[in-house]
Amino acid sequence: MSLELFDEAATRQPPRAEQIGPQTFVLRAFALPFIDDLLPPLRAVLKAAPLRRMMTPGGQTMSVALSNCGQLGWTTDTHGYRYTPLDPRTGQPWPALPEAFQRLAHDAAALAGFADFTPDACLINRYVPGARMSLHQDRNERDYSAPIVSVSLGLPAMFQMGGQQRSDRPVRVPLLHGDVMVWGGVDRLRFHGVLPLREGVHSVMGAQRINFTLRKAG
Ligand code: SIN
Ligand code: FE2
Repeated sequence: MSLELFDEAATRQPPRAEQIGPQTFVLRAFALPFIDDLLPPLRAVLKAAPLRRMMTPGGQTMSVALSNCGQLGWTTDTHGYRYTPLDPRTGQPWPALPEAFQRLAHDAAALAGFADFTPDACLINRYVPGARMSLHQDRNERDYSAPIVSVSLGLPAMFQMGGQQRSDRPVRVPLLHGDVMVWGGVDRLRFHGVLPLREGVHSVMGAQRINFTLRKAG
C-alpha cells in the first residue's frame, strides 16, 4: 500500500467511540483538537463568573467548585437545585456559551447519534484533589430528549456510570484530559458520579480537573 493511500485511510477514521451503554459513549481525546479554542473563553467565563463552592439542599458545602455559562446556569442552595438565568453571586446573566463549546458539544453529540444538539447551559465543575461528586441523576432540565455532553480537562478522574436506580452497581470509567462522554435517550437519567480526585499536577491544567457539561436545560 502506498503511503499516500495509508494516510488517507488513517485520516478518514472516525474518532474512537467506546460504547458503555445503549446510548452512552466515551469519545477518547475528542476535545484535544478543540483545546486551543476552549481554554481562552473558559478563562474569560471564569473571570466573569468565578468558581464557587455551593451548598446542597441538605446543608452540605460541595467539595466541587462550580460556575456556569449559557442562557441558564445550574445552582444549588438550601432551597434546592435549579437553573437560573442570573448568577446569584453577581446578579448578572451567566456569561454567554462560547462558540467553541457549542461546536464541540454539537459534534460530539452527533458522533454519539444525537443530531442537532443545541445546548443552552453549561455547568463547569472544578475538582481539586479529594473533591468528588456523589451518584446523582441530571434531572433539573425541562425535558430529557437532549443528551448530556461532558468534557474532561486536567487531572484524570474515575467516573462512575450507574444505572437507572441508585442501587445499580456503577461501572468505572477513567476519564483523561480531552475525553468526552455523551449520554442520552434511554440512558439520559442514569446515575453517575466521580470518585475523589487523586493528587497530581497536570501539564496543562495544573493541580485540578475541570469538567464541563453541556445541556439543554430550558
Ligand atoms: C456532573 O455530573 O455534573 C459532573 C461529572 C464529571 O465531573 O465528570
Ligand atoms: Fe451530573
